[in-house]
Amino acid sequence: MDAAATEQIRAGMAYESGRTAPPEGFPQFPDIPSGRYVDPDFQVLEQENLWKRSWLYAGHEDQVPEPGSWFLQRNTGSPILVVRDLEGTVRAFYNSCRHRGGPLVKEDAGQSRGFVCGYHGWSYTLAGELTAIRDKRDFVDFDFSCRSLISVRCEMLGGWIFINEDPGAPPLMESLGPVAGEMEQFQLGNLTLVNSRGYDVACNVKVLLDAFLEVYHLKSIHQSTVDRFLDHRGTTITLWPGGHSRMTTPNRRPDWIDPGTMGMPAIPTVTEIPRDNNVSYNIYPNIVMPPAATGLPMLVFWPRTARTMRIECHWFSPKAGEEGLSPLWQTRIDNFERILFEDTQFAPQIQESIESPGFKGIPLNYQERRIYHWHEELDRRIGVNRVPTELRVTPVLKDWVETK
Ligand code: FES
Ligand SMILES: [Fe+2]
Repeated sequence: MDAAATEQIRAGMAYESGRTAPPEGFPQFPDIPSGRYVDPDFQVLEQENLWKRSWLYAGHEDQVPEPGSWFLQRNTGSPILVVRDLEGTVRAFYNSCRHRGGPLVKEDAGQSRGFVCGYHGWSYTLAGELTAIRDKRDFVDFDFSCRSLISVRCEMLGGWIFINEDPGAPPLMESLGPVAGEMEQFQLGNLTLVNSRGYDVACNVKVLLDAFLEVYHLKSIHQSTVDRFLDHRGTTITLWPGGHSRMTTPNRRPDWIDPGTMGMPAIPTVTEIPRDNNVSYNIYPNIVMPPAATGLPMLVFWPRTARTMRIECHWFSPKAGEEGLSPLWQTRIDNFERILFEDTQFAPQIQESIESPGFKGIPLNYQERRIYHWHEELDRRIGVNRVPTELRVTPVLKDWVETK
């Protein structure tokens, strides 16, 4: 984070702490229609235009350490095989044999020299090329070259592997916009995957995502945890194009250090703001990442059905030397999980509630503007004219998005 951004955030926190109303000219938000969390037709639009066309976190390079290492990613709704080929390139393919759709792999992860379909034995290289079929004599004019596995776009940000099911999507770095530059300080290529856990929650994915885009709830559901050390009244927010955003919340005491991380090795290039405050990024659409100099948690939100979702939590640490990872990691991960459970505790009841006639729409406040920004972007991705009128979010934040 450069000096100008650092100064801007410092000034922003001071301004937010002192203000008595939203800034001059800030718009009143039209209610977000509750149907966006419930309506099956809206879910189809969202699935086709957001989830099937966005860069999404698939995994970490530690999961494919050698040529032939692979893992299966099922969170996008289609089984996708992520593999390191013989040249060392990480690639992604649908786990669908080009004959009659047999799965190439059935486990979650493994190591192979190529892939042989278990149904009739068609064989593919690690790069997805079809090399052999059984009883070739029985196919008329068979052309191997047009029967390679169907590839899925796959690009890296440091050690993070992203996939995108839209063949025509702009490159990952372009889609990330200013987020890519902000990530440089964390040296994503020098981190190691410490731990991954996943949790199924009975709510629409947006119910829980919304909860991680604001700190308005700190005094209620995190009263005895996060609220004790963060001052939500000083929270300053940057909205970026493409739906991405950053939220910075000051510690109540400027010299506060999380006791659970004391003594852990730090990433030396992490700048002052994320080191001494609570910063949280939303990498659109579904990553929430509140970094610390001593390591990064990444929350990834996945839709299942209109009423169910899965949240995954991945932890990344600076690579350890011979001494190995700090024993503090286990406690740190467990503590974070407890806070996560505070966030998920109402989600199923919120889902029931917003499906009932007792709920009409969501009146967001200035503090909750990242949620509105997220929803505005969703409509842009779907194509505003395709969103049924009663489910649209009227764009009002254009002048509050930082474009430089
Ligand atoms: S489905 Fe794979 S070889 Fe037939
Ligand atoms: Fe929370």
